[in-house]
Amino acid sequence: MRSIFTKAGAAALLATTANAQLYPDQSPLNHTCQLQQPLLSCPSQDPSQVDSCCVETFGGLVLSTQFWNTYTGLESEGQVLPTDTWTLHGLWPDFCNGSYTQYCDLSRQYDPIPSPNTTNGLKNGTFVPPYTGPSIATFLNPFGRFDLLEYMNTYWIAWLQDNAGFWGHEFSKHATCFSTFNIPCYGPEYQKHEEVVDFFETAVKYYKRFPTFDWLAAEGIKPSNCTTYSYSALRDVLFEQSGGIPFLGCTGPRFNATAAGKNSTDNGYTVLSEVWYYEHVYGRPQEGNTIPVNASSTYLTNCAKAEGAINYYERTNGSEKAPTVPY
Ligand SMILES: *[C@@H]1O[C@H](CO)[C@@H](O)[C@H](O)[C@H]1NC(C)=O
Ligand SMILES: *[C@@H]1O[C@H](CO)[C@@H](O)[C@H](O)[C@H]1NC(C)=O
Ligand SMILES: *[C@@H]1O[C@H](CO)[C@@H](O)[C@H](O)[C@H]1NC(C)=O
Ligand SMILES: *[C@@H]1O[C@H](CO)[C@@H](O)[C@H](O)[C@H]1NC(C)=O
Ligand SMILES: *[C@@H]1O[C@H](CO)[C@@H](O)[C@H](O)[C@H]1NC(C)=O
Ligand SMILES: *[C@@H]1O[C@H](CO)[C@@H](O)[C@H](O)[C@H]1NC(C)=O
Ligand SMILES: *[C@@H]1O[C@H](CO)[C@@H](O)[C@H](O)[C@H]1NC(C)=O
Ligand SMILES: *[C@@H]1O[C@H](CO)[C@@H](O)[C@H](O)[C@H]1NC(C)=O
Ligand SMILES: *[C@@H]1O[C@H](CO)[C@@H](O)[C@H](O)[C@H]1NC(C)=O
Repeated sequence: MRSIFTKAGAAALLATTANAQLYPDQSPLNHTCQLQQPLLSCPSQDPSQVDSCCVETFGGLVLSTQFWNTYTGLESEGQVLPTDTWTLHGLWPDFCNGSYTQYCDLSRQYDPIPSPNTTNGLKNGTFVPPYTGPSIATFLNPFGRFDLLEYMNTYWIAWLQDNAGFWGHEFSKHATCFSTFNIPCYGPEYQKHEEVVDFFETAVKYYKRFPTFDWLAAEGIKPSNCTTYSYSALRDVLFEQSGGIPFLGCTGPRFNATAAGKNSTDNGYTVLSEVWYYEHVYGRPQEGNTIPVNASSTYLTNCAKAEGAINYYERTNGSEKAPTVPY
């Protein structure tokens, strides 16, 4: 009787643990990662052989992403861009093969405007309900992390959306897919939303290592509404400085639809707007022991590659202000 009871108890305990976990079969240990060898995140580790709290076991290709926007759309509410600085977009856990998943834990859905609105981005996916609770910014209050909040309000700036809604989007769409920011990783003393604060801190940590504006400016590549730039020049500077070829994202008209690109076969976009830096990570991403890697050779950019095809626009007047907290 006793042995059956014990087994049933153990099974129930494991089931509870498994339910609280993003991926099945995680180690039941208390995840003291300092006691373990810091394994490399790619190629991906076998989840049955490693503690997925101590190495990014699924989304091992970590992307630190930034925006260059010229306005926010919420200037009237004081939401402006930091002068001479690209802004933080997010920290994403892509699979080692470059594909990715999203909205991995709907019990931590804090995104007011889920995009896409299903877990797989298709009609047959699980619906992601819009979040209507208190702003994710309030999650920092019990931890007293007002310095972090001020940093985020300076550098983690949304476009056509309030900043906190955007942070909720980044957390729920991407951070819930990291094995290492999963709630069981925080052990028995976990405090509600601890992993949210930890994710915000980690995203900031990575962001600070990639001063895109300064790297480009040092090579004379500065925002301009008169001059244009070439993709290859931007790529070369950022590769040299970061150690990996980042993905460069553009919006705006296609080159072949502009006057300068008339009759060109180059149909890439012409307005510089994003950069994604790729890394593999030893141990927990929180520790930041990374090695740079190149973006996928089949998806290095959607920008036009023709000479001088890219606009790196100046911010709109009134859309930026000098930051009062240091980068
Ligand atoms: C995990 O933490 C709990 C609560 O502090 C403790 O009772 C348990 O012994 C720990 N387990 C291990 C393997 O350290
Ligand atoms: C990429 O890796 C993930 C996770 O291992 C897997 O689910 C997916 O099928 C892979 N995709 C491709 C295109 O190989
Ligand atoms: C989900 O998004 C799709 C495409 O953006 C949209 O057509 C659909 O109405 C949305 N569904 C709901 C329930 O909001
Ligand atoms: C959802 O639809 C896609 C194609 O539209 C299909 O490939 C996939 O198998 C479907 N998934 C499920 C869970 O039905
Ligand atoms: C530019 O290229 C796109 C995509 O190849 C094509 O659809 C479009 O017609 C082209 N535009 C012009 C003006 O040639
Ligand atoms: C573009 O093509 C049109 C006709 O297809 C031609 O008249 C024009 O001279 C070409 N423009 C350039 C810049 O080559
Ligand atoms: C990244 O790309 C550069 C330029 O093509 C190449 O020299 C370098 O070896 C690549 N790095 C890796 C890790 O593949
Ligand atoms: C520069 O051009 C962009 C794109 O047209 C515009 O949004 C921005 O306001 C301009 N900046 C200045 C200072 O004129
Ligand atoms: C933006 O401000 C600059 C300098 O104050 C001025 O020269 C320029 O005309 C302004 N641009 C617009 C679009 O208002």
